[in-house]
Amino acid sequence: MSVQAEEEQVVTSPIPSSAGLSRAAAGDPEGAVGRALRPLNSGRLREEYQSQGSFLYLSEFLPADATQQLIDAANALLPEVNRNYLPGHKAGGSVSRHTIDRLAPYIAELYRSPQLIAWLEKITGDRLQLSPEDDPHAYALYYYTRAGDHIGWHYDTSYYDGRRYTVLLGVIDESSCKLDYELHTKDPNKADLPGSVQYPPGSLIVFDGDKLRHRVTPSLDGEVRVSLTLEYVTNPNMRPWRRFISNMKDAIAYFGFRQVFRKAFGGKV
Ligand SMILES: [Fe+2]
Repeated sequence: MSVQAEEEQVVTSPIPSSAGLSRAAAGDPEGAVGRALRPLNSGRLREEYQSQGSFLYLSEFLPADATQQLIDAANALLPEVNRNYLPGHKAGGSVSRHTIDRLAPYIAELYRSPQLIAWLEKITGDRLQLSPEDDPHAYALYYYTRAGDHIGWHYDTSYYDGRRYTVLLGVIDESSCKLDYELHTKDPNKADLPGSVQYPPGSLIVFDGDKLRHRVTPSLDGEVRVSLTLEYVTNPNMRPWRRFISNMKDAIAYFGFRQVFRKAFGGKV
């Protein structure tokens, strides 16, 4: 595969916060998750998730104060964004879990929320574990800030011995970007079912990475979009050759070599 990677540090002015969200009562992530889950009917949502081939979209999930925390973090981390460009497949910016650990502990805590994990286990029907410490995708922010930022059709392939689940949370969306997807592509007994969603701040998507074919359509000039991804696994073991492939993909397509190969850089990134 011919891959040309462009890595650069991006420094831009802050993205305007979404209007109307309370800046007060920041609270703790666990409390916010508790409030998010209270009105949900998990049994019905589990059925919806199953009927959609391991995919669920909730247009409203996080309370406004928690969403505002994510918006503030996304703005604060703008100087840390690593831009990447893979011709014909992907363009955009990313901030890895390692940077989030240093500068946005709210997100790191949200990822570890016991209530969130317990609810995701109800929805997916699996016992979930946190991604290993050295996985930069465990929680990460994706930034679309330039015309043409996008990602082409792909699966969130699991390089782990078990399944890999992706949770997407809308953070900022001042864009025309859509998450296009196809359900049931790996199920020989069901016809492929296309769908498309423009998920707003505070919304949630959860899916099995190996089952949902998806892409994000290109942004236009002047548009801004930031989403938060959380990754959970059923078995955190990864065989060495898969680790190598996964690391190279992450270094080139997302976070840069310094973030992915931190040990080689003395862990100082
Ligand atoms: Fe993806």
